[in-house]
Formats: sequence, C-alpha cells, structure tokens
Amino acid sequence: MNPEESIDSVVARWSAQARWTVVTGAGVSAASGVPTFRGAGGLWRSFRAEELATPEAFRRDPRTVWEWYEWRRQLIAAAAPNRAHEVLADWSRRQSGFTLITQNVDGLHERAGTRNVIRFHGSIWELGCLESCRGPARRWNDGRVPLPELPPRCPDCSGLARPGVVWFGEPIDPDTLLQSERALDCDVCLVVGTSSLVYPAAGLAAVARERGAFIVEINPEPGASDVDLVIAGKAEEVLGRMDSLIH
Ligand code: OAD
Repeated sequence: MNPEESIDSVVARWSAQARWTVVTGAGVSAASGVPTFRGAGGLWRSFRAEELATPEAFRRDPRTVWEWYEWRRQLIAAAAPNRAHEVLADWSRRQSGFTLITQNVDGLHERAGTRNVIRFHGSIWELGCLESCRGPARRWNDGRVPLPELPPRCPDCSGLARPGVVWFGEPIDPDTLLQSERALDCDVCLVVGTSSLVYPAAGLAAVARERGAFIVEINPEPGASDVDLVIAGKAEEVLGRMDSLIH
C-alpha cells in the first residue's frame, strides 16, 4: 500500500461510534518547535534525557536538572499547538469513545482543547514537594516563565520542589495506569510520534492489539513493534490528511 492507500484504510475505520485510542509522544510537538528527546535536536548541553530525568540526577544536582526543565518550559511557553494537536482535539469532541494517552508533559494537547487526555508522564507545569510534605500525590500548578527561583521551593516546607513528571525508574501513577488500561479496549489505536523505547508507555499498543484493536503507527522514522499498519510520515501531515478525508 502506498501512504495514501494506507491513510484511506485507516479513515475507513472511522465512525462517530468507533472507539479510538491515540498514544502520542514527543514527535507530535516537533512541528510546534518543542525538541524531541531522541534524534536531531534532542540534546541539551550534550545531556541525554536518561541522565537528567532521574531521581538520582536530581538528588545529585537539582539546579542542573531544573535548568533543563526551565529550558523546556520556556520553549513550550513560546510554542503553540500544531495541526496534529488540533486534529486530535477535534476528534476528541466528535467521538464519544476517543481517548488520548500522551507521554508528553508539555500540555499542548490540552491547550488545543482535547478532551479525555491521560497524561501518562505528568505535566511540566506542575510541581511537587520532593519530600512529599503535602502527601505523595499532591502537586501544584506553577506556569510562571521563567520561574523566579531555581530550584523552586515547596510553598509549605521550603524544601526542594521537583517537576511534576515521571522520571526514569519511577512508577506510573496507579490511577493513570488504570485509566490507560481501560482505554486499551478500543477498535483502533494510533501510535503517533513516539520512539516506543520507554516502558511501560511503549507496551500500551501491544496490549490493545492483544485485545483486538487495529494498531497504526504514524512516524517519519517508524520503529514500534507489533503494529498492523505503518504510515511513514509526519504527524501534522498524516493526521491533517486523515481529517480532511473524514470531514
Ligand atoms: P522520543 O524523542 O524518544 O521520540 C520522538 C519520536 O518522534 C521519534 O520516533 C521521531 O522519529 C518522531 N518524530 C519526529 N518528528 C515527528 C513528526 N513531525 N511527526 C511524527 N513523529 C515525529 O520521544 P518519546 O517517544 O515521546 O519521558 O519519548 C518517550 C519518553 O522518553 C518521554 O515521555 C520522556 C522521555 O525521556 C519522560 O519524561 C519520563
């Protein structure tokens, strides 16, 4: 199948009643100017995400880790949702069985108006107390750019504040896992803009497939395993084309 035929075959599965679950990664925000973690432009001062987004790195050098998040927060604050975010937001309003599971912490899906977003890795706009003085699940929003103080402090105990994201080696929030589990009972699962290297997110599509969903990967450099159809292309272009055929 050529790309156009592949797109047609996915669109043929669209209906207002069909249950679609979309799993997104950093590639969806690439056209908004937010760098991906891996590949060209993914590095910050030659650090890899795996070296910075860990509890150990934070304990060792909270300021450097916060500088990385501050850099990303500034880029994201200046960015706007792109066509990929907009199409998914539109589908979320039209399809009652639509769920979006995103690994992105940038909030661009929400800014585009998407309903039913599961934030698998948390949010860069939330902070939490490192010592969990407000309880392990307590987080607060802080959208100030730049943050007035690096590293920021907990407003309650003045201890170190941490970004409200999931780091390597940390578990996914149990409620988030449960909601994602439910969303994997779907008819179609699109895997968009993710390298599918970081688990457990990378394993979500395989679960949906075991349960009978049709899995489609959309990525200019596809690499996910266990998919039924690969569309090698940019999220903003492929989703835009799909949307123009649907409506
Ligand atoms: P990666 O940076 O690992 O992968 C981005 C993917 O997007 C690559 O496969 C690119 O080929 C693809 N890509 C680039 N431009 C694209 C475009 N315009 N349209 C579609 N795809 C495009 O990002 P993630 O898979 O999201 O974790 O990374 C997974 C996790 O690793 C992140 O959530 C983050 C990171 O460390 C945490 O923060 C815990």
